[in-house]
Amino acid sequence: MKIHHIGYLVEDINTATEEFQELGYTLKNQVIYDNTRKIYISFLTNNNYLIEFIQPTEESPGLSKMLKKNGSMPYHICYETDNLENSIQSLQKKGYFLIQPCAIAPALNNKKVAFLMNTSVGIIELVEIGKE
Ligand code: NI
Repeated sequence: MKIHHIGYLVEDINTATEEFQELGYTLKNQVIYDNTRKIYISFLTNNNYLIEFIQPTEESPGLSKMLKKNGSMPYHICYETDNLENSIQSLQKKGYFLIQPCAIAPALNNKKVAFLMNTSVGIIELVEIGKE
């Protein structure tokens, strides 16, 4: 599956943005608040790589806990699919668990996303890329 972006958990999204810009990254869009997942999100690019910053809040305890335990770090890889439901079903048959069902991602132009997990792979995200 084609990689769409790498999700990076950060303690402070503005500081992280400044530090990554020092490393040659370009801010793709301003920070937005995802009211469904209760997190702050922004995207940065570095050549062909797209990095998503996620800053959890007190209302996103799972991610806050992960951040507290491990510090700022990449924690998911997002893959493109042209049919989210089919990909979810096919990965579930291969032993992946659905940890966050299909939802709209405001930071990705309201594309549909879902999160799955497999003990060998960790957390993955799927994003449905429609024909545009
Ligand atoms: Ni993501």
